[in-house]
Formats: sequence, structure tokens, C-alpha cells
Amino acid sequence: MGSSNFVYIVFLLLIAGAPLSYAWGVDGHYMICRIAQSRLTSTASSAVLDLLPSGANGDLASECSWADNVRTAYPWSSPLHYVDTPDNLCTYDYSRDCHDSSGNAGYCVVGAINNYTTQLLSYPTSRYNLTQALMFLAHFMGDVHQPLHVGFTTDAGGNGITVYWYTTKTNLHSVWDTKIIQTAMSNYYGNDHNIMADSINANITSDQVSQWDACGSSSADCANNFATESIQDACSYAYQDASQNAKLNDTYFLSRKPIVETRIAQAGVRLANLLNQIFV
Ligand code: ADE
Ligand code: ZN
Ligand code: ZN
Repeated sequence: MGSSNFVYIVFLLLIAGAPLSYAWGVDGHYMICRIAQSRLTSTASSAVLDLLPSGANGDLASECSWADNVRTAYPWSSPLHYVDTPDNLCTYDYSRDCHDSSGNAGYCVVGAINNYTTQLLSYPTSRYNLTQALMFLAHFMGDVHQPLHVGFTTDAGGNGITVYWYTTKTNLHSVWDTKIIQTAMSNYYGNDHNIMADSINANITSDQVSQWDACGSSSADCANNFATESIQDACSYAYQDASQNAKLNDTYFLSRKPIVETRIAQAGVRLANLLNQIFV
């Protein structure tokens, strides 16, 4: 083998082994879907296995970032990952807030959850692509639980707020998508998202499951409630002490990590509940 080939292969091995993260990063979505899949009824589990693409090897978690990878190929899907709310108001209102930048109603994360839920209800005799519907729904149930995916309009959910995560320059949105999770994985979970997910899952009580699943009579109410919880967490925790150029370190990390872990747990439990109600 030539030395340039060798360098290339070493490079491939390095990037294959590195935990790449972008949007709730790959790790956040992976953990949410791993928790959800462990809580499916046998009927829902069979439907999910039937719909997953063959490359997934029956693993829902491996497909839960697919929606982020098609943002460019499907430009209409980009506004479906979040919902922006009026600056500093700390409330979410479907009719006021759930639209894309051209004002098309329903083009936000809550509208997307309701749309893909409706599509999946037509399983198995559907005119829709239910494999994509499942991968979108599993992803957007994660996004709606990321507090800054229901953030303020002017700063685009913290994307416009530069902060320092320990010594690294980044933005507040990335802190909540990836930095808190990566720091927790590295400090407590051997840098392994399976260990972190299973630990979060094992600490969920049956009282929490009943509370989290009780959210109104229709799935539309539920998704609206998840968005309201997120903007409240955004105001109480994410934006607090995180103004432009803020230096975030242990004080912020240790107080916000429990919020992130709770949101991951809730998203997993609620995704399972939703799929269990769809596939009966
Ligand atoms: N773009 C605009 N607002 C956003 C948000 N809240 N989350 C992610 N991307 C966004
Ligand atoms: Zn994000
Ligand atoms: Zn997303």
C-alpha cells in the first residue's frame, strides 16, 4: 500500500471512531430513540421493524438523525425542526407561532408531529412513504423536547448567541444540542451513548411514565404541551446566565445536565407511547 493510501485509511479510521455531532446532536436523537424502542408494545415493535429501512438492522436509533441529513435535499423540511416564539414572552401558541418564514400554517415541529402521526395511522395500506414518516416522527419528537428548538425568534433559538463552552467558542443552541450531552458522556458515561441512554432509561419511574403520557385527549394537544414545556425550560434554564459572549462552565453544566437528561427521558417515553397508540 502506498503511503498516501495509508494516511487516507488512518484518516478514515479516525473520523469513523470520532463521535461526530450536529443538530439535539446525533447522540441526543440516538438516545431518545433507543429509549423509545425499548418501551414499544409487541404490535408497535413489529410495525417499526417492518417500516425501518433494511440498512437499519432493526435499530430505530440508527435512523433518528436521518431527518437532519435530508434538510438540504428537502428544503421544505427545514422549518419542521423547530418553532420560534416571540422574544422574551416565554409562551408558545400554535396559531401564532407554528408557521414557516413565509407564513405557511403548520410548518413547524408541532405541525410536523401531527402530520406524520396522521400518515402513520394509515399503516399498512397507505399512499404515503411510511418509512420516511416514521423517521421524521421519531426525529421531531426529539426536537420538540430540546428547549431551544422552541426558542426566541431574533436569536433563532440561541443560534445567534455566541458563548464559550469552557474554552471552546460556540453558540448557545449547540450547547443544548450537543455540548452538555458530550460533556456528560465524557465525564460520567465512558463516552458511550448506549451507556448514557440505558442509564437514563433505567432511572425512569413508572410514576414519571404515567405523568409524562397524560397530556390531553388528542395527539395535537400533546405536541402543543411538549412545546410549551420546552419554551418554559428555555426561559428558566437555557437563556438564564447565557447572554452574548457568556462563559459557561461547571456551574451551568451541573445545573442544566438534569434538565437535558429529563428532556431526553420524556422524549423517549412519549415517542414510545405515541407509536404504541398508532400501531394497535
Ligand atoms: N432556526 C431558527 N430557529 C431555530 C431554532 N429554534 N432551532 C433550530 N434552528 C432554528
Ligand atoms: Zn438543534
Ligand atoms: Zn432536527
